[in-house]
Amino acid sequence: MDRPLPRKPTRLDPRLPWLGGVRRLLSPMAGVTDRPFRDICRRFGADMGFCEFASASGLTYGGENTWKLVDTDGEEGLVGVQIFGADPEHMAQAARLLGTRRLDVLDINFGCPVKKVVQKCGGSALLADVPLLDRIISAVVANSAVPVTAKIRTGWDEDKVNYDEVGLLLQERGCAWVTMHGRTRAQKFTGQANWDRIAHLVELLEIPVIGNGDVVDGASYRRLVEHTRCHGVMIGRGAMGNPWIFAEMRAVDEGGAAPNVSFAELCDVTADHIRGEVAARGEGHGCLVVRGHISRCFRGYPGAAAFRKRLYDAPGSAGMIALLDEARALGDPRAAGAAAGEAGPDAG
Ligand SMILES: Cc1cc2nc3c(=O)[nH]c(=O)nc-3n(C[C@H](O)[C@H](O)[C@H](O)COP(=O)(O)O)c2cc1C
Repeated sequence: MDRPLPRKPTRLDPRLPWLGGVRRLLSPMAGVTDRPFRDICRRFGADMGFCEFASASGLTYGGENTWKLVDTDGEEGLVGVQIFGADPEHMAQAARLLGTRRLDVLDINFGCPVKKVVQKCGGSALLADVPLLDRIISAVVANSAVPVTAKIRTGWDEDKVNYDEVGLLLQERGCAWVTMHGRTRAQKFTGQANWDRIAHLVELLEIPVIGNGDVVDGASYRRLVEHTRCHGVMIGRGAMGNPWIFAEMRAVDEGGAAPNVSFAELCDVTADHIRGEVAARGEGHGCLVVRGHISRCFRGYPGAAAFRKRLYDAPGSAGMIALLDEARALGDPRAAGAAAGEAGPDAG
């Protein structure tokens, strides 16, 4: 059996009795981590799921579409809601409004690099305005019915790396944990996440640090925790088209064998996801969301690219599900390719 993963002992928020066992979390991802996808990830072992980020101003003004993003009514399992914004009063008001909702923690986004958010001084722009970040976190902590957490990047750019200052401030203001994506805002999604900086933040803080960035399987999960001793790991892109990553991570923690996911199961789960999205969002929007996941499905299978294109082009959910049923009935293309002497590198 592999060595158990090293974790730094931390100060756990007594209001979160479950936190000690939370190691594998699904990152918030706009357009991706809606209820159907959160449910699927939990089915495969995610300890906690996060909703897509929601604008505090949108919640304050009662925007129907914004409120749909945080619809957790009746959701089973641990769930976090994430808000963003640059107006402390709106952030406080959103925290108050969320007080009647089903959520286990309220997370504040200090990491979003997207221009639309940053131009209004939200997301990662707040890393470059620590006094405003301080007013926001203080206002949210004072007004939230549930413990508050924060998700940051390492800084605005390489000249303004300040995760240490920001992390200590967030701890001081009462955050239950800090999640850090190991890139600066300037990097967006380029280069590599800097795990040394995550390790440094783990050493610096007494509260748990959740590491994030570039974990794509059980092996990289092990490497990140061994490198940083972080309390838990958030998975973003690595879960798209691959919710089994959480089962792989669980196997790393618990010492069992990594799951062997059959092609039939892959088809079934993809079909379940399509049904879930259509039930949650309606046919048109549901199919649109599913198409966002398709580009990451069936990696490693011969003919994957062509199959993904057919799925993508199918006119509606019934067509997509019929294609999946058909593929399932034909059997695992890896086995078929091997039998015909065609096994080779992934066509996708
Ligand atoms: C499509 C997409 C949407 C995202 N939306 C959010 C979001 O709403 N809130 C947030 O904090 N991070 C968001 N992120 C960032 C991820 O949560 C995560 O920090 C980042 O992808 C790095 O982790 P990974 O390497 O595991 O993907 C998003 C990322 C992607 C790819």
